[in-house]
Amino acid sequence: MSDIKNIDMKQVWQQDKDHYVHPWTDFSTFKESGSMILADSDNVHVIDGEGRRYLDGIGGLWCVNIGYAREEMAQAIADQIMKIPYYSSFGHHTTVPAAQLSAKLAQLAPGNLNHVFYGCGGSVANDTAVRIIHFYFNQLGKKSKKKIISRIDGYHGSTYMAMSITGVKFDHIGFDIEEELVHHISCPNPYRRPKGQSLEAFCDEKIQELEDKILELGPDNVAAFFAEPIMGAGGVIVPPKGYHKRSLDVCHKYGVLYVSDEVVTAFGRLGHMFASDDEFDIVPDMITCAKGLTSGYLPLGATIMSDDIYDVISVPQADGALFTHGYTYSGHPVSCAAAIKNIEIMEREQLCEHVMDMGAYFEAQVKSLEDLPIVGEVRGRKFMMCIENVANKESKELINPDAAVGNRIADHCQARGLIVRPLAHMNVLSPPLTLSKENVDFLVKTLRDSIEATTEDLKRDGYL
Ligand SMILES: Cc1ncc(COP(=O)(O)O)c(C=O)c1O
Repeated sequence: MSDIKNIDMKQVWQQDKDHYVHPWTDFSTFKESGSMILADSDNVHVIDGEGRRYLDGIGGLWCVNIGYAREEMAQAIADQIMKIPYYSSFGHHTTVPAAQLSAKLAQLAPGNLNHVFYGCGGSVANDTAVRIIHFYFNQLGKKSKKKIISRIDGYHGSTYMAMSITGVKFDHIGFDIEEELVHHISCPNPYRRPKGQSLEAFCDEKIQELEDKILELGPDNVAAFFAEPIMGAGGVIVPPKGYHKRSLDVCHKYGVLYVSDEVVTAFGRLGHMFASDDEFDIVPDMITCAKGLTSGYLPLGATIMSDDIYDVISVPQADGALFTHGYTYSGHPVSCAAAIKNIEIMEREQLCEHVMDMGAYFEAQVKSLEDLPIVGEVRGRKFMMCIENVANKESKELINPDAAVGNRIADHCQARGLIVRPLAHMNVLSPPLTLSKENVDFLVKTLRDSIEATTEDLKRDGYL
């Protein structure tokens, strides 16, 4: 751990409050409370500006998969900086890490997804997917094939296009989105299906809805369907069995490309390098990923495409014309070196196997919280879990949003040395994958205590 004692944390807090425009922030409270400073870290723990230690139940933001403060990562990053810290890969230049990482991702990705385009994160990976898909259909002479279908409560990022594809309605309040190109269908959330409906009937209905939407928009106008294998920010929604496979079949029936947004699910979170094929039995046309690709040590996102797409987009569209898509930092050598080392660590330490084992224990332990009176459902898989809190377990009625139950639980956890993420009336968990049994037990016990304390607060305040 590094020495943070010489930093004036009060000053840092003030500088942050005065000058740093935070992403995804509630300014009504930020201007009063400012931010919690995270100053140090160590494997599964983070340490605040006052030196308090917390188990990080959310891996930063679904991303610090190999755990914090790995010296090997620091060394790999430093080594690359001293070799060559940057070079553009526009045109015919490349760097050793960019080339090597591409080959490694082609090897790890399912099916014939053998070609990789890089940006700086998940939103950009999805934006890139849209640009490439449009270009692909233009190349094929199918110039009307432009529309994108995605799901309510899907989250795909916050660049203009990625936020348009995002279907979390709350996220659109006050901003604009592209409504001509993007069309949303409903969320395959089994917990909220009509009472008495079987899972099979629910799944049939969702698949029919996708097919109906393609037909309504016209197959000649629909380019792609975007879906997370398990929706993350929408509340960790695991669709019914067979949903993805059947969605992919419907897409392919109408020449619609299937993009699997694996920004959260890739690199071990569910116990596989990629979840599309290994967990959900699909080989999509594209996979977008980021986060766990470098475990958050440096920014990097990737759009991985099939041979079929690459073969079309890599043919010159006109004499002298270029494939005009790319960013200054596409294939950044230091980020790519970090990704290579990150994957090497995951493989050497058999982190996917650890997730299969410890993640299954974690899933079962978190699930045990369902006996608490305000916990309506605990759902998710392995190290990607969500607790949905309700006022009434039978009717699934929500607690008054003014009660901010997710925040209250997160605050109680924080006071007890655990960070969990509030998401409206829910709390999500996506810890580093290196969690030990002792860490899991602490996390679940602390959550239980915090939910019980919150329940008492809600009663006291008249919300229950
Ligand atoms: C499924 C999914 N896609 C895309 C994104 C956007 O990634 P980024 O924030 O790196 O742009 C996120 C971020 O949480 C995500 O969860």
